[in-house]
Amino acid sequence: MKFATKTIHAGQPSEPETGSLIAPIFQTSTYEQEAPGQDKGYSYSRTNNPTRERLETVLAELEGAKYAAAYASGLAAENAVLQAYLRPGDEIITSLDVYGGTYRILNRVFQPIGVVVRQIDTGDLKAVEAAVSSRTRILWIESPTNPRLLITDIAAVGKIAHKHNALMVVDNTFATPVFQQPFQLGADLVLHSVTKYLAGHSDTVQGAVLAQDQAIFEPVKYLQNATGAIPSPFDCWLTLRGLKTLELRMQRHEENARAIADALKGHPLVRRVYYPGLPDHPGHEIAARQMSGFGGMVSFELAGAKEEVEAFASSRRYFALAESLGGVKSLICHPASMTHASIPPEARAELGLSDMLLRLSPGCENHEDLVSDLLEGLAEIERARSTKKPVAAASR
Ligand SMILES: Cc1ncc(COP(=O)(O)O)c(C=O)c1O
Repeated sequence: MKFATKTIHAGQPSEPETGSLIAPIFQTSTYEQEAPGQDKGYSYSRTNNPTRERLETVLAELEGAKYAAAYASGLAAENAVLQAYLRPGDEIITSLDVYGGTYRILNRVFQPIGVVVRQIDTGDLKAVEAAVSSRTRILWIESPTNPRLLITDIAAVGKIAHKHNALMVVDNTFATPVFQQPFQLGADLVLHSVTKYLAGHSDTVQGAVLAQDQAIFEPVKYLQNATGAIPSPFDCWLTLRGLKTLELRMQRHEENARAIADALKGHPLVRRVYYPGLPDHPGHEIAARQMSGFGGMVSFELAGAKEEVEAFASSRRYFALAESLGGVKSLICHPASMTHASIPPEARAELGLSDMLLRLSPGCENHEDLVSDLLEGLAEIERARSTKKPVAAASR
């Protein structure tokens, strides 16, 4: 079965009792038993639920994995992995550029209980080798990263992890299984904020962890029931619906991202464009090797003042100023004050996260509309500078 066929057919037969083409939402907390302890495979919906099970089946198929567990959010999924594998004194290595919530859970939740967190440039394999010690339990890779779309050679880091008996966890949220298959690159666990491209419509918050090896999966799966951060059946159903167009949507997201990166590159008001599809992106060659597409996100630094960045971000016609990404409707985000605000300013400066950075999540609209909206915003800044008037705030 090819990828697009899986998104529609894997684990999703018509409902056997009625023939309903789309299975109903099993909105139930519990299941009647025939005799004490004799159930039909379902006893309580925290433990298992047919709608969630359908979602887990298709997610595993898409990622080329044997096992999947769905969680109430991407961070709940992260927590399950970290809680399953880290004990006081253990070490975890991750990228400098990483989702702000991942930074927060590592540095504010796990570091205070004695876990050693090392943030390094995982694009530099020598730095990875130098950071690994006998206490390293996890190498945690985001590629492309949030928000600068930096690239790590996943297969090379996997080899280092395995040489030192550590696990490699890959957060595949940005690439999605459409463009990147981390298990083929040596991942032990793959993680998703399902909230983003997988669900795809900005209407639900969910996460997932996937694995190939039962022994590696089991401690993470155990926490799904034992700590209870599960998604509701309705949320799982929304994702099952969204997944059916995943490949189509990703193709459009990528088309739009490319058009935007090309239009912004070289503009006098744009200091730098981050898009792995651009040949001058430092990770371009590795991305071309390990991904089948460059993804749908674009970030860029405005050559301007803070007020100009703020006015630009809050006055776009088609890019709503909002956290999150990966939906059909375009979003713009100012990481320093939004998604990455949980990183203190000094740490942001150290990590190279500029206050001038804007992150775009182009939706599925027409690329010409999106590009002209952004170019119009830049032209507004130029006009305001030439007339010495402040840039107009939200005109949307
Ligand atoms: C790369 C990445 N991983 C994990 C998460 C956390 O997911 P959630 O917001 O669903 O908890 C996010 C959220 O933005 C993300 O961008």
